[in-house]
Amino acid sequence: MKKAITPELGREALLAFFKTRSPLGPLKAMAKHVGRFFQIPIPGFRPYVVFGPEAARKVLVTDRNKFLWRNTDPVTDLLRRGVLVTDGEEHDHYRGLMETPFHPSQLPNYTQMMIEQTDRVMSTWQDGQTVDMLIEGRKIALLIIMQTLFSKDAWDDIPKIWNPILKTIQYVSPGAWILWRKIPRFGYGKSLKAIDDYLYQIIDDRRQTLNDGQSSVVHRHNDLLQHLIDAGLDDDTTRDQMLTMLIAGHDTSTALLAWTFALLGQHPEIHSQVVQEIDQTEGKYQLLDNVIKESLRLYPPIHIGNRRVAEDVEFAEGTVPAGERMFYSIYLTQRDPAIWENAEDFCPERFSHGRKTPPMSYIPFGGGPRACIGAAFGQAEARIVIARLLQTFAFEPLNADKIHPYMGATLEPHPGVMMKVVRR
Ligand code: HEM
Repeated sequence: MKKAITPELGREALLAFFKTRSPLGPLKAMAKHVGRFFQIPIPGFRPYVVFGPEAARKVLVTDRNKFLWRNTDPVTDLLRRGVLVTDGEEHDHYRGLMETPFHPSQLPNYTQMMIEQTDRVMSTWQDGQTVDMLIEGRKIALLIIMQTLFSKDAWDDIPKIWNPILKTIQYVSPGAWILWRKIPRFGYGKSLKAIDDYLYQIIDDRRQTLNDGQSSVVHRHNDLLQHLIDAGLDDDTTRDQMLTMLIAGHDTSTALLAWTFALLGQHPEIHSQVVQEIDQTEGKYQLLDNVIKESLRLYPPIHIGNRRVAEDVEFAEGTVPAGERMFYSIYLTQRDPAIWENAEDFCPERFSHGRKTPPMSYIPFGGGPRACIGAAFGQAEARIVIARLLQTFAFEPLNADKIHPYMGATLEPHPGVMMKVVRR
């Protein structure tokens, strides 16, 4: 049975909001007092929240056909027919077209590009300078996505696309539109158009190269963009998949890179052990991998899966009726004290002895047939980029104790991850 939400809980939730400066505080308070199934008690916004391995299995595997990914929100407005916001056969079609470039066998092709883009961003750093790893991480992640998936060297375009990208991310971040869906959204049009123009130009250029190449032998790209074009997608649908990949594939990596540096800054001993491992080992980094896993557990960049309920769904604790909005909380699942020992502590060690928690309790990339298509890519990218950064510079944390999670489009470390960088 669903437990009642008392005025005391309301007060505690509000206090938690001010203490943690984020809605994560109230969510945790609700989870603690009400359990793994509750409704957010905000007038005008009452989505259901579920978490834990049983709920995750239902949402991601057994009952997944009762849910829709396509929602009535700015994400769907922006991504239009992108793979992330379509359902059924249409989704499966796009997803099928994109599996090949993300297959683990393709990852070695990207390694060199990931290293080169990291080096380029580092080449702008002065010895002893203070950098914000939230910003530098975003530059690296953006360059990598553009290069690996669209064979586009975006280095010279960064000044032009930087602000439009940030605006686009802000457009899909939680805001007043949650309470008032049709609230006028001024100030985004120019930026959204700039990104569209940029992507349509890349599509145009590629089609042009293909036409030019019909009479002579030219180098054919074998990237994600080429897969979409070869499948006969029109320009609009191609743009929708590209924008989906650009946003889903770089904002998440940005958060992962920044959080990992934040955590290393907060745990100097582990920080130096990671540096030592990178200096002494070739390629296989056990501790770094565990640090990345633990970073994804404590601060999952996508902390919530957003669904529209198409058919009534019964959970152990109650039913979510058709038509409602529902979240499955990755954050609460991965910090559930009933599952995780010392759930709130940063402890990369916990991943070194094989799995000790039930399946579906560690879900930073979701799960089931619609799990993240970029999971292997994103983890390889984090490993390669972080190792390269730590090999080249020493990082001295400057604001480690002031960092707190902020719910934007992803869970971000705010107000940034300030580091003094000294060339090694
Ligand atoms: C690096 C960290 C990343 C994290 C933590 C992450 C997390 C996730 C999660 C949790 C989902 C499932 C959401 C749900 O169930 O509603 C998802 C889906 C998705 N991710 Fe990622 N992601 C990451 C990187 C990437 C990358 C690098 C790409 C592409 C280049 C990508 C593209 C996608 C796409 C297209 C989907 C939708 C898949 C579908 O619906 O079939 N992600 N991601």
